Amino acid sequence: MERTSITIEGGNQLTGDIEVSGAKNAVLPILASTIMLDGETTLLNIPPIGDINSMVRMLNSLNIRTEYRIDESIHILNEKKIRHIAPYELVTAMRASFFVAGPLLAKTGFAKVPLPGGCSIGLRPVDIHIQGFKKLGVKINFEHGFVEFSAFDLKGNVVDLPFPSVGATENIMMAACLAKGETVINNAAREPEIVDLANFLIKAGAIIEGHGTSSIHVQGVQSLQGVKDYYVIPDRIEIGTLLIAGGITGGSVCIKNVDKSYLAPITDALSKAGLVISYENNNVRCSANGGIKPVDITTEPYPGFPTDMQAQMMTLLTVASGKSIIKETIFENRFMHVHELVRMGANIKIDGQIAIVSESSLSGAEVKITDLRAGAALVLAGLIAEGHTIVYGLHHLNRGYYNLMEKLTLLGAKIVT
Ligand code: EPZ
Repeated sequence: MERTSITIEGGNQLTGDIEVSGAKNAVLPILASTIMLDGETTLLNIPPIGDINSMVRMLNSLNIRTEYRIDESIHILNEKKIRHIAPYELVTAMRASFFVAGPLLAKTGFAKVPLPGGCSIGLRPVDIHIQGFKKLGVKINFEHGFVEFSAFDLKGNVVDLPFPSVGATENIMMAACLAKGETVINNAAREPEIVDLANFLIKAGAIIEGHGTSSIHVQGVQSLQGVKDYYVIPDRIEIGTLLIAGGITGGSVCIKNVDKSYLAPITDALSKAGLVISYENNNVRCSANGGIKPVDITTEPYPGFPTDMQAQMMTLLTVASGKSIIKETIFENRFMHVHELVRMGANIKIDGQIAIVSESSLSGAEVKITDLRAGAALVLAGLIAEGHTIVYGLHHLNRGYYNLMEKLTLLGAKIVT
């Protein structure tokens, strides 16, 4: 029986070395893209977390065979006729299931996908995805809460994104891989997870250039083949979360086997907050060095400060010696953690998309997780709050973090079920 709450004893220093799991937001589009690959694929470094399980169930529902292995790898066999209707209950369980639209279109010329609902952090529309597909010659029909896509000859084109949407960039890039001719995606998102997806697709035979820049060029090919033993990048958000766990508790945490080329947007902010960041070979360490300094943060598309680290950074800044201004520019409702942090004694004022965080001392309380990253922020708060914090709603956390409590306990946290 999966536990639904945990109790954290505050005041313990976290110190030690740890490894993080594969990046959830790279695994999800890569799994969706296997719809386009003929034959067998093996993915390595795949954490068995809720969202990934949802995407695996989605692939199964489309007639793709998958096998989760105990070494955190997934074997995928795509040899039967693909179904092209994504089940309602799976898409509403996880909006990233909408990533199957591009691959289904590319592979079968047709896709029927429920419009994903919003979630606690925002409405999460998919208009940018749909505008992009239209530019590739896709016919779109909305009915009964589903979007029907049909394109029997997907044609490459120039797609100018109005906003560097991560999901839209990925969905359109995947569809473009099997379109006729060249596609150029301008104002593309540049997140490392998009680069990982492109690198995976290139191994499958795709012709992609410019991934990681704001202009991605895709040359359509006839077919894509399964990829053997693709190792997914480590999760930069989990890295940032655990680095803060070390710094906020006055300890020193080293994350092993990371790719430091894309961590600067996170580690630069931690350095500005007075934490000592050091890179040793493929490891990154965060050590406390006296008090935390106030820092003004604005979330932006990569290479800006990631919105997925905003909540965790807010917890760190509640113990800074002064006032910090946090501006959330990506999602319209991503301050859900504030209410619970205030109940723990945090001095935070909200003014629209801005949070003003002043020096606080946190005390343990019973708190409820509302969304994945808010959950991480509340766990970090429990590590430093005076007394015990009981955190409810762990299922939100388990969607995106694998064995987070076990990892924190290994580093010295006192967490009881
Ligand atoms: C991805 O979501 C991530 N999810 C999110 O991580 C992350 O917060 C987000 O990118 C931003 O970095 C996955 O990769 C599975 P967007 P995505 O399209 O693709 C608006 C987590 O905690 N928008 O870049 O949905 C949208 O509403 C999750 O791991 C449109 O208006 O993000 C949002 O305000 C949370 N129309 C903004 O753009 C569209 O068609 C950014 O969305 C698409 C998006």
